[in-house]
Amino acid sequence: MRKRIAFWLAPLCLMLALFLSFPSVAQLYQVPGPNSPTKKEDVPIYRQEPDKIVGRVSIPDEKLATLIQPEGREWRSFRLFIFRTVATVLVIGTVLALAAFYLVRGRIRLERGWSGYLVQRFNGFERMAHWLTAVSFIVMALTGLVITFGRPVLIPLLGHGWFSALADWSKLAHNFFSVPFLVGVFLILILWIKDNLPERADIDWIKQGGGLFSGGRVHPEAGRFNAGQKLIFWAVVLGGIALGITGFMLMAPFAVTGIGGMQAAHAVHALVASVLAAVIVAHIYIGTLGMEGAFDAMGRGEVDANWAREHHSRWYEELQERGEVPRSLPAE
Ligand code: HEM
Repeated sequence: MRKRIAFWLAPLCLMLALFLSFPSVAQLYQVPGPNSPTKKEDVPIYRQEPDKIVGRVSIPDEKLATLIQPEGREWRSFRLFIFRTVATVLVIGTVLALAAFYLVRGRIRLERGWSGYLVQRFNGFERMAHWLTAVSFIVMALTGLVITFGRPVLIPLLGHGWFSALADWSKLAHNFFSVPFLVGVFLILILWIKDNLPERADIDWIKQGGGLFSGGRVHPEAGRFNAGQKLIFWAVVLGGIALGITGFMLMAPFAVTGIGGMQAAHAVHALVASVLAAVIVAHIYIGTLGMEGAFDAMGRGEVDANWAREHHSRWYEELQERGEVPRSLPAE
């Protein structure tokens, strides 16, 4: 048990140590140096940590009357410390957990082998909706990483000139791809909601861990989507809506809320994006390396009949009842 805890704690501590060595974090916790001001009057007013200072302005934009807003410092430390740590731990933690799972369990293979008989799983329109969402999300995740980790990680590597060009393009792409991403989320919601409603069989699927740890011997019953996929579907739909709302609040600053609301919108956007990115890393793993035959479903739209029988037994029976696949396969 202790060995297992040490196995997980060691990479997490390493990540935290690397993160704390980022220059921007060091700046946040600066200790006074030889040239630091010694008298209170020499310290700029915003560094004296006073309470909120609000003056008066005669222009219509009243928020400009706020000179000091202490919550800004909390938001800054959230952005520089909490958010970056949560994002790093979630995404790298998921990659490490998947690597460990792959080493222990290996690829999930077809227990009965390939039958050679193909079953249609997703039509062309469904695949288009999936890849529209997927490509937009991946572009937004990568550009989001540039926005979040660019200053501490990329400036030392690329220098200010290249980084500012990259950051500029990343921000443009991040804003632009939000539109196809939301269109994709809307389409998959409409197309797949009826197959993603919770049902009793989902509880048994979760209790049996989807059969993932049974060495391929247990295949809990599932309809067109199993409980794990339903969780991914709802994470994408609800997470996508939350990202859309908070993202547009950030794109149109102060259109619907004040500074406090902007900071809250940023915090929600950042945390939801980190959780969804970790979920999608796991999804991509199972759709490619993790499970034999899975990619075909979204690649050519057809899966082997044995894959359908093993992973989605009830869906396969429904296809048989509708006469879309034969009662027994030619080789049987
Ligand atoms: C290279 C990236 C990706 C690959 C290889 C991939 C692969 C797949 C595959 C093979 C399926 C069908 C599974 C089945 O037949 O049961 C699927 C379904 C799905 N994908 Fe992806 N996907 C990718 C990226 C994404 C992204 C970025 C999103 C959303 C942001 C996403 C959302 C979904 C959803 C909601 C489903 C239906 C539910 C599920 O099967 O989990 N996918 N994907």
